[in-house]
Amino acid sequence: MTGGAGFIGSHTADVLLQRGYEVRLFDSLQQRVHPHGWPSYLAAEVETIVGDVRDADALARALDGVDGIIHLAAYQDYMPDFSTYYTVNTAGTALLFELIVGRRLPVQKIVSASSQSVYGEGRYSCNSCGEVYPQSRPEPQLTAGEWEVGCPQCHAKATPLPLIESAPVHPHTAYGISKYALELTTLNLGRKYGIPTTNMRYSIVQGTRNSFFNAYSGVARIFTLRLLHDQPPILYEDGLQQRDYVSVHDVARANVLALEDDRSNFRNFNVAGQKMTTVLEVAELLTSLCDKRQIVPQVSGEYRFGDTRHTVSSWEAIGSLGWQPDQGMEHFLAEYVAWVRQQPNLEDFYARSQQAMRSAGVIRRSDAAPS
Ligand SMILES: NC(=O)c1ccc[n+]([C@@H]2O[C@H](COP(=O)([O-])OP(=O)(O)OC[C@H]3O[C@@H](n4cnc5c(N)ncnc54)[C@H](O)[C@@H]3O)[C@@H](O)[C@H]2O)c1
Repeated sequence: MTGGAGFIGSHTADVLLQRGYEVRLFDSLQQRVHPHGWPSYLAAEVETIVGDVRDADALARALDGVDGIIHLAAYQDYMPDFSTYYTVNTAGTALLFELIVGRRLPVQKIVSASSQSVYGEGRYSCNSCGEVYPQSRPEPQLTAGEWEVGCPQCHAKATPLPLIESAPVHPHTAYGISKYALELTTLNLGRKYGIPTTNMRYSIVQGTRNSFFNAYSGVARIFTLRLLHDQPPILYEDGLQQRDYVSVHDVARANVLALEDDRSNFRNFNVAGQKMTTVLEVAELLTSLCDKRQIVPQVSGEYRFGDTRHTVSSWEAIGSLGWQPDQGMEHFLAEYVAWVRQQPNLEDFYARSQQAMRSAGVIRRSDAAPS
């Protein structure tokens, strides 16, 4: 498994071990995610190899004797170092195929991490124009504090629809584009060279082991850290953005299902949570789970450049293979908060990542922001 030391990788490794697999983790131990090296939460039975998916020699060593791959290594951030998304996420995936094909390695299946970010602004319904696929919201609209998405044809307010795999994709961030390129690479090279592949378009994954050091925004992590430091969760826009949140345990099961079930071959699947939830609802639930009911989440009027307004995926397609999200948000967020409380030396990492995004111009103020 590439990226196996990470949040989703380590939980997927646990499921694989329970099912009797021998598991090898290949991971560069990205400094920001793993500042202390291999994380202590990894099971003792896994084999570990340090290496970068951009390094052919290291990757070849990791592929030796392997018959299935779960490919999770990725560069994920909001920072504008665009080329890194492509070199890690897309070129790293192409290198995987280059080695398998070039060395005729007997790999029987590759399951890769994609993301719902490939859908870009998503799928909407307009009363007059029907189903539409808007571009990302224009900057002047956001500066004016107008958050909702308009129909690209008549500009009337459009209503979000669940994202489905057959919908057109319009990734509009370097991360989303690199993941879409990953999907094209795995499906097309996979078909061409007879290597079954499946891409998993995860929604927002939540749960234990999500690194505090990863600036990539996990809303539960940021809100929980703030609440445990007696600071209110800060909501971008008006806090009414709709998302779906999926448990890392459910994601780990989905990865192993895709690895084992041939009906998943050469397909993309959403892996999504049970229901649509607003960011404000997440903040309120965490306020209660952290026993900080006196703290009121704050709407900052700021926005994160490149964010989508509403992004909720349907899991119907993977549901047809027998998967469903078992854990509701109350359950996995309670587990997460309990885990955070046990972590030693908690600092307010939120402030640091916030500062980094501000200085990179990712967080911006709208005219609606309180002065
Ligand atoms: N967490 C989510 O909500 C979410 C949502 C959609 C997609 N994904 C995708 O799922 C995958 C796993 O994400 P995660 O949340 O577990 O993140 P994570 O940061 O916890 O894990 C990623 C792992 O990849 C490793 N890595 C990074 N660059 C590497 C490189 N060049 N070579 C080898 N290893 C490298 C990191 O050290 C880390 O251990 C990623 O591909 C990510 O894009 C995650």
